[in-house]
Amino acid sequence: MISFYKHNLNKNENYLKKTLGSSYLTSGPVCQTIEKILCKKFQKKYSILTNSWTNGLISILMSLNLKPKDEIIIPACTFVACANVIEMVNAKVVFADINPHTKLMDINDCVRKITEKTKVIMPVHLYGNLFQTKNLKKKIRKNIFIIEDSAHAFCGEYHNNILGKYSDFAVFSFYATKSITCGEGGAIITNHKNYAEKIRSISNNGMTKPAFKRFVNNKYIPWDVYNIGFKANLSDINASILKGQINSYHKIATIKKKKFFLYRKYLSQINEISFPTEIKNKDRDYYLFPIGVHKKYRNKLIEYLLKKKIFVTVNFKSITELNFYKKKYKGTTCPNSKNWGEQQISLPFHAKLSLNEIKIVSSAIKKFFK
Ligand SMILES: Cc1ncc(COP(=O)(O)O)c(C=O)c1O
Repeated sequence: MISFYKHNLNKNENYLKKTLGSSYLTSGPVCQTIEKILCKKFQKKYSILTNSWTNGLISILMSLNLKPKDEIIIPACTFVACANVIEMVNAKVVFADINPHTKLMDINDCVRKITEKTKVIMPVHLYGNLFQTKNLKKKIRKNIFIIEDSAHAFCGEYHNNILGKYSDFAVFSFYATKSITCGEGGAIITNHKNYAEKIRSISNNGMTKPAFKRFVNNKYIPWDVYNIGFKANLSDINASILKGQINSYHKIATIKKKKFFLYRKYLSQINEISFPTEIKNKDRDYYLFPIGVHKKYRNKLIEYLLKKKIFVTVNFKSITELNFYKKKYKGTTCPNSKNWGEQQISLPFHAKLSLNEIKIVSSAIKKFFK
C-alpha cells in the first residue's frame, strides 16, 4: 500500500506533555508564543491562531461588516471552504477562472469581474504554487481587501517578497494533511491593528478579554461584548503540537522539495501527463503533487491506481460544478477550472515517501498508458 499522506508528528515531543501539566489548556501562553513566531517569520504585526482556516476566514469576513450583496471574488478551482465561508456571512461568491497553465486565479478574469460591490478578493496559493498578489494589487481599487488563502503554503517568496506581503490578511490551515499540522487549526497574519483586535474578539464569542487575560496580578478584569462572535480560538493543546512542527518545517520542506523533483523526473517521461506551470519563486511549499491527464482517462487511472493500493485523490473539482453552487450560481462558467477539475489527480506525496514508492507510482502510471 502506498499512502497518500503521512504526518511528521513526533509522539515523544515534550511540548505537549508540558502543556498537559500546566493550568491553561486553551488559548493561553503557548498560543501567544506561536503567534509571536508567526509574526516574526512573516514580518507581520499581528497573528491570531484559530481552530481552522475556515473559522479564521469567517472571523475575518465578520470583522469587515459585509452587507448581503457585497461580492467576494475567489478562483473557481479551489477547496469548497473558500465559497462556503462567503455563504456563511451572506455575501455573494463571484468565481474567477484559473490560468490554464499555472492553475492559479487568472488575474485578468478576476479584474474583469470587479464591480462597485466587490469588497474582497481571495487568491489561493494552490498546491503551494505562489499566486502573484503584487500583480493583482497593482490592478485593483485600494479599498478592496485581499485575503491570501495560504492553506497550501507555509512559506515562499516571489519578487524577493515573502508570502503575505501584499495582502491585508493571509490565512494558514493546520488541518491533518497540511505541511504543518496540529490535527485541526489555522492562523491569520495581518498588519491591521483594528481588524486584528476585532477578529480576536469575534473568534472568542465576541468577548473583549480571553480567559487568559481576565486575571492580572490576582485582579479580575471585567469583559464586555461589542460584536457578536463564535468559537474559533485554538487551544494551547493544539498549539503545543504546532511548536515542534514549526521547528522541523524547514527540514521537512527540503526533503519534500527533493522528492518533488525526483517524481517530476520519473513522470516527465510520460507524454500523457501535464503539470501546473510553476511561478518563479524562492523556497515555495511543495505541498501536493498534482498531475493532469485527459479527462477520458482520469477516473479510469484513479481506479487503476487504487486497485494497486496506490492512494490518490482529486484537488479540486471546480466549485461551479458542485451541486449547491451550480444551482445557486446558475449560468456561471469557468471553462479552465472545469477542465482542470476533470483532469487533475493528486499523487501520494509526503516526506516519508521512499524513492522506491516514487518509482512504483511512476511505473504504474506508465503501464496504464501503455
Ligand atoms: C485551499 C484550501 N483552503 C481552505 C481550506 C480549509 O482549511 P481548514 O480545513 O483548516 O478549514 C483547505 C483545506 O483543505 C484548502 O485546501
